Amino acid sequence: MAGEMQKWVLMATAQTPTNIAVIKYWGKRNEDLILAINDSISVTLDPAHLCTTTTVAVSPTFDQDRMWLNGKEISLLGGRYQNCLREIRSRATDLEDEKQGIKITKREWEKLHVHIASHNNFPTAAGLASSAAGFACLVFSLAKLMNVKEDQGALSAIARQGSGSACRSLYGGFVKWVMGKEENGSDSIAVQLADEKHWDDLVIVIAVVSSRQKETSSTSGMRDTVETSMLIQHRAKEVVPKRIVQMEDAIKKHDFAAFADLTCADSNQFHAVCLDTYPPIFYMNDTSHKIISCVEKWNRSAGTPQVAYTFDAGPNAVLIARNRKTAAELLQRLLFHFPPNSDTDLNSYVIGDKSILQDAG
Ligand code: ADP
Ligand code: DP6
Ligand code: CO
Repeated sequence: MAGEMQKWVLMATAQTPTNIAVIKYWGKRNEDLILAINDSISVTLDPAHLCTTTTVAVSPTFDQDRMWLNGKEISLLGGRYQNCLREIRSRATDLEDEKQGIKITKREWEKLHVHIASHNNFPTAAGLASSAAGFACLVFSLAKLMNVKEDQGALSAIARQGSGSACRSLYGGFVKWVMGKEENGSDSIAVQLADEKHWDDLVIVIAVVSSRQKETSSTSGMRDTVETSMLIQHRAKEVVPKRIVQMEDAIKKHDFAAFADLTCADSNQFHAVCLDTYPPIFYMNDTSHKIISCVEKWNRSAGTPQVAYTFDAGPNAVLIARNRKTAAELLQRLLFHFPPNSDTDLNSYVIGDKSILQDAG
């Protein structure tokens, strides 16, 4: 390491998109390693619209690891942050920064502390998968800083230990998280089903019903579900395995009718399972329900699905239109049914395409 008490700072920045599950992950079989009770499939969004940007810095003057999320300092004590930091640190390699004349060896990385500043350009903890973009970005930026030479798959497995859904955000396009069978999690990994160019007719519209932080985090919600719901066992063992096969097929064939039916049915079942939890969890609100009715009526009157809806653990709607023309009509319909400045005003719409992880230099 360059000289005693030198005042250098080394930084790395990354930007990572969020992903929205069309077949949902809900329930863990191992809380610490974050191993799911069923496979899930998601679409990664365009980071131009919904993304996390994280800058990580290291300096010999830092005396502890610290993190700021959206400008506020948060505690890194939780097991998830510690697990990610430990896994990345253990894979750090020798680094030489010629510009600043800094050399850091693998062993020195163990002792150096990091400062992390992260920002989500969309509501945090409101059911738009901030934990997915957040932990994927944390792992990616730390790996870049510490000269980690692992492939995307290994980084994805580390991100999974921060938040389950995060393992899918390391890939663009359509991604499957395979739950795996091993107790140590070695086969619980994300795989890309199709890249971001596949099926680029689809347009994703996000209707922000509320940007308030949810009352029940995904982590505690799914823990209560596994402990108290009988429906969840049926879902994980009987329903999801069949849907995964059908969804992969629909994606491969660009079969929008099948894609939409499966996406909507899976979102509805996930929320039914939440209601079957004790105490019951309500992630959707009246506006969410009105959006569902509006889309269902339209799809029925059109004779074939035009738009698919899915709601994560929050009231906000993710709407997937079959093409640009349908997306334009969807926006018109939303504006008509939920006019600005009314009780059910949707504060913003974001149109996103599928996309890939970006390295912000
Ligand atoms: P969401 O539906 O937004 O994913 P969760 O309940 O799953 O909500 O997770 C929210 C939690 O994820 C936050 O309380 C925070 O701990 C973590 N998180 C969110 N954004 C980031 C980020 N950019 N970097 C690190 N952690 C984050
Ligand atoms: C409804 O990945 O946020 O968004 O693993 O405890 O961090 P933890 O939970 P998280 O759960 C996501 C649940 C979901 C569905 C999904 O993304 O598959
Ligand atoms: Co989450």
